[in-house]
Order: sequence, then structure tokens, then C-alpha cells
Amino acid sequence: MAARVGVMVRYHDRLPVTSRTPLVDLKEGSTPLVPSRNLGPALGLKHLYFKYEAINPTGSFKDRGMVFAVAKAMEEGARVLVCASTGNTSASAAAYAASQRLRAIVVIPAGNVALGKLSQALMYGAKVVALRGNFDDALNTVRELARQYPVALVNSVNPNRLEGQKTAAFEIVDELGDAPELVMLPVGNAGNITAYWKGFREERAAGRSTQYPRMFGAQAEGAAPIVRGEVVKEPRTVATAIRIGNPATWQGALAARDESDGLIEAVTDSEILQAQYQLASSEGLFAEPASVAPLALLFRLAREGRIDRDARIVIVLTGSGLKDPDTALASVQPPIELDGDARSLAKALKL
Ligand code: F0G
Repeated sequence: MAARVGVMVRYHDRLPVTSRTPLVDLKEGSTPLVPSRNLGPALGLKHLYFKYEAINPTGSFKDRGMVFAVAKAMEEGARVLVCASTGNTSASAAAYAASQRLRAIVVIPAGNVALGKLSQALMYGAKVVALRGNFDDALNTVRELARQYPVALVNSVNPNRLEGQKTAAFEIVDELGDAPELVMLPVGNAGNITAYWKGFREERAAGRSTQYPRMFGAQAEGAAPIVRGEVVKEPRTVATAIRIGNPATWQGALAARDESDGLIEAVTDSEILQAQYQLASSEGLFAEPASVAPLALLFRLAREGRIDRDARIVIVLTGSGLKDPDTALASVQPPIELDGDARSLAKALKL
């Protein structure tokens, strides 16, 4: 088997690298497209796949864009990276900064970042600042910081992030031999849906695919500015990764939706939590709450007869369920506790 390579090696010729761009590589990308064994058949869907981004080095899709944003920042001489984040971007920025011996400053909304993500940023050695306010406030603050001080902003408003993230679309086309009919993903700050759409457009333009997929985005009901068509001042959702009221790449998401004949709809927190448990307990794939918003949307669309059952459908599972153990534990029964022997165990289990 060929040695694993990161996205800068695998897609070298499709990224804007120059002779001065350093090669940064934590072996990110090349994530599996897992065919659904149980949920798809139960819904009557013939070709349902999960793009399992959780196996990236820091456990989310952010690594694809971060590797390239960091390489380009280094090319321009940066020594300090800064980002605002609901958690995953901060973990990723901190990891790549560590590997390249750069400083990382990450600004997170106080009290609203999942435990796993916070522990990652701290362990990778970033300077972590918890700002009172929400993600949108944090992003405004770091954008201002980057305008005035010599720090490289590595949020997805940095176009190099989207360049890296588009490689996920390339992998899907490589693996299926063409673009699927439908791609579904969560929408928060709206960088990822924009990046995927760019990737699929490039594949089509290069003749590697014969069609464009329809892009379906899912937001959380309490944080659905794109669905509502207006900024949400106080976004709320259990899916903290997408607890965003004023997406920076709003226009990109609208273009992806409209040009692809897609849609962006909202799902409730309880739909999200149910989908998370159903995915984990029937497919063996544990994804964080934001990641299963599109699955919750698929359940609803299938119920309403709005899904083509013959279509190839790819759901992007953007981050690992291990990122947010608190939320997961709140929606399951605790383990039974007992002392004793095999007999009492068998009795408790009604064997
Ligand atoms: N899924 C996960 C797990 C995320 O962490 C994010 C965004 C998204 C989906 C939405 O992607 O913002 O490109 O629309 N997380 C960012 C962060 C905001 O700071 O980690 P998007």
C-alpha cells in the first residue's frame, strides 16, 4: 500500500502553490467514504455514503484548509497565527502551529466550546483566550487584530483555507469516479459549503466529472441566519460548532445553494441529538452534533418524499463525536453499576 500523504502532496497540482510555499503535512485528508449499511437501506436509499472527516489529525475537516493556510502564511513570513473559533478551527490552528513551531492565538466564545476541542487547543500549546460574547464577536475582534498587528488570520475568510478544503470534493470524485447527485453538509460560518462547491466546479471544468452535485446545507434552528435571511443576534444550539449568527461567507453559501439547485434548511436540536445517536448506534460512526445536522435534514426530506432514492448521496461528517463528550453523555442512559459476579450480571442483563 502506498504511504499516506497529506493534501498538499496529494493535490499539489490543484492548489496555488509556488516554489516558495513550504510543504506542511500532518497526513490530513484522504478520509474514507463509508457506504451506509443500515440507515440508507432503512430509508429506501440505494447509495448513501458518509465522508468521515473525523479521522483527520485533529478530528475534523478543518485540517484540510489549515494545512494550506499555514503553508501560505509561512510563505509570507508569518510567525504568529490567529483565529476565532467555535472549537475545531482553534484545535487545528494550534496543531499546525505546533508542528511548524509557530505561535497560535485562538479566541473562543467563553463557555460555548466543547471540552475535547478546548483540551486540544491547550495541549497543542496555543494561547487560548475565552472572549465574553459569541463567535461572531470573536471573529470581528480577531479580524481587527489582524488588520493592526503582524499576525496571520487563519479563519475561513482566508481564501487559502477554502483552497485546502475543496480537496474533499476532489476525493469524492476520485472515489466515486464522478460527482454524486447530492452532497449534504452542515453550514456555520459557510466556508465549507463554499469550498466544496468550488471543488466540484473545478472537477467539472477539468473534465474529471460529468455533472454537478446539488448542495444541501443544514443549519440549526436557533442559529439559522441563512435560512431566515437575516443575522441572528443571539444564536443558540446544542451544536456549538455551528452556533453562528452572521456567517462570514454568507454569499458563498447562497451561490452554492442557488447555482447547484440546492437548498439550506434548519433542523431542531432534538432532531440533531436523535440523528447523532441513530448514526452512532446503527452505523458505528460517532460524529459531533453539528456534523449530524445534515443527517437530521435527510431524515426529514426522506419522510416528506423529497429525496431521489436512486441518487448517490454523500453526507459530510465534519467532526468526531469524541470532541463533545458532555453532549453525547447527556443523551444516553448512564452505564449500569453493580458489584458482583457473572450471575448477578446475567440477572441484571436479563440473559
Ligand atoms: N462542522 C463542524 C464540526 C465545524 O466545526 C464547523 C465549523 C462546521 C461544521 C461548519 O463549517 O463554518 O465552514 O460552515 N466550525 C468553525 C470553527 C466555525 O471555528 O471550528 P463552516
